[in-house]
Amino acid sequence: MSIELYRDEHHACLMFTDLGEEDGHAVQSNQFLVIDHGAGAIIDPGGNRAFNELFLSLSRFFPPQNLQYIVASHADPDIIASLDRWMTSTRSKLVISRIWERFAPHFAKVGKTEDRVIGVPDAGGRLPLGRGHLWLLPAHFMHSEGNFHFWDPVSRILFTGDLGASLVSGAEAAKPVRELAPHLPAMEGFHRRYMVSNKILRLWARMARQLDIRMIVPQHGAPIEGRRAIADFIDWIESLMCGVDLFDDRAYQLPTMAIDPRDHRTQPALRAVA
Ligand SMILES: [Fe+2]
Ligand SMILES: [Fe+2]
Repeated sequence: MSIELYRDEHHACLMFTDLGEEDGHAVQSNQFLVIDHGAGAIIDPGGNRAFNELFLSLSRFFPPQNLQYIVASHADPDIIASLDRWMTSTRSKLVISRIWERFAPHFAKVGKTEDRVIGVPDAGGRLPLGRGHLWLLPAHFMHSEGNFHFWDPVSRILFTGDLGASLVSGAEAAKPVRELAPHLPAMEGFHRRYMVSNKILRLWARMARQLDIRMIVPQHGAPIEGRRAIADFIDWIESLMCGVDLFDDRAYQLPTMAIDPRDHRTQPALRAVA
């Protein structure tokens, strides 16, 4: 089922929150479709689990052959593992960081991505879509080394990939959050481990405050909506210690625990008896 984040006569932003999570084994992920004057871009199309329904939904708006871009914030499996199917079923180009440009083709069969990958330089850029542009904002190390966020100036939605992610169900992801404090427990552990460093978060906050954002929409979990919740989110992320800030020599010891392949638990390894 699609959720309309924005719609006017010529422009729409749709979100899908519950594709492919039936068995609960894969992390809940959102996919997005941005349409302007009949031209379309899919943002972070996800894995093979999401492909069929996303493809059908898209077909309601225009012939899938007219899809112009698959835009990927980074190269994780939950972002573009379905690349081969999109490359087969449409004529769209893949838009991804230049540092992933030659890695992403491993998701597709030989020849499928030839001349169809737009490698984005670190500085980002403005990608023509319909009669406007989708802005590709630098978001490197949040968490991926080559990472972009996507700003849609028409809807004033900032699509932030893994930044702002919350670990919730597809049904919960469909309800925008307007108050940040109660939402923090669903976000905190993820950001402490997946974001790379506070320095990066501070740099991002400085950039993001220049935009008049109506909604921050992550690739996992619920959108953050409204002036106050968005300001609170930027303040929170700016002061968060994470990633390499929290790692020291204790995290880099030779392992002593054994992993049991039957129940997947770890326990102290038995010492070899001489
Ligand atoms: Fe990721
Ligand atoms: Fe993700």
